[in-house]
Amino acid sequence: MEFSNKADEDHAIADKLEALWMPFTHNRLFKQKPRLIEKASGMYYETSDGRKVLDGISGLWCSNVGHNHPKISQAVKSQLDVLDFSPPFQVGHGLGFELANELTKIAPASLDHVFFTNSGSEACDTAMKIALAYHQGRGEESRYRFIGREKGYHGVGFGGISVGGIEANRKPYKKALLPDTKHICHTHNLSEMAFSKGQPRWGAHLADDLEELLKEGAASEVAGVIIEPMQGSAGARASDPYPAGRAACCRY
Ligand SMILES: Cc1ncc(COP(=O)(O)O)c(C=O)c1O
Repeated sequence: MEFSNKADEDHAIADKLEALWMPFTHNRLFKQKPRLIEKASGMYYETSDGRKVLDGISGLWCSNVGHNHPKISQAVKSQLDVLDFSPPFQVGHGLGFELANELTKIAPASLDHVFFTNSGSEACDTAMKIALAYHQGRGEESRYRFIGREKGYHGVGFGGISVGGIEANRKPYKKALLPDTKHICHTHNLSEMAFSKGQPRWGAHLADDLEELLKEGAASEVAGVIIEPMQGSAGARASDPYPAGRAACCRY
């Protein structure tokens, strides 16, 4: 298409991009000055204007063996040639069972069942639903509340946003989130932790926060505690209280 001037060209591009509503993106600004990726190989993306960009975060932490890895491309193609989809309701396919078995071999010993989902958000909401249904099934209907952590990210479902601790993600939905969810404090403290080698020594006491929330009868209302061993979305934070937090959950 020929454009008489740059403004016309910009409008035409913006028009083409209008229908797609992009997540976690300032849509209006993006569409005024789009950054479009066209292809990728190994560690690099290539943009629509021909620039090579180092993919320093492996997609969204999901392309860790590099983009367009020949083994993965081949495996996807081979499977598509045989069976592109079969429903998981009332019928199954051998590979799903095989993958579940492989996962239980590398997961900690007590994690011996697998439920597949399509995303972390769905995984988190599903885990919360399983916890609620489990307690209800055992006759403990009083267990309806969840505990998360400040700055935690557990995706974009209502459950994940409720236990998540990123205020900007919670703000538009406040009254509609899961009831009575509480958040323990996050573990970031520059004055105590800067330049630590490995796990900082300081911070184990932060698990007391969880202990406090579980005390005094409150534990009988808690259906689950969801915290990331390593926070990533609202700044990278290691989590010393994790083993202590798990121990507190087991006690209560
Ligand atoms: C701990 C955790 N839970 C849930 C999610 C959401 O995953 P998804 O973007 O696949 O929905 C993420 C994504 O980064 C995550 O780090």
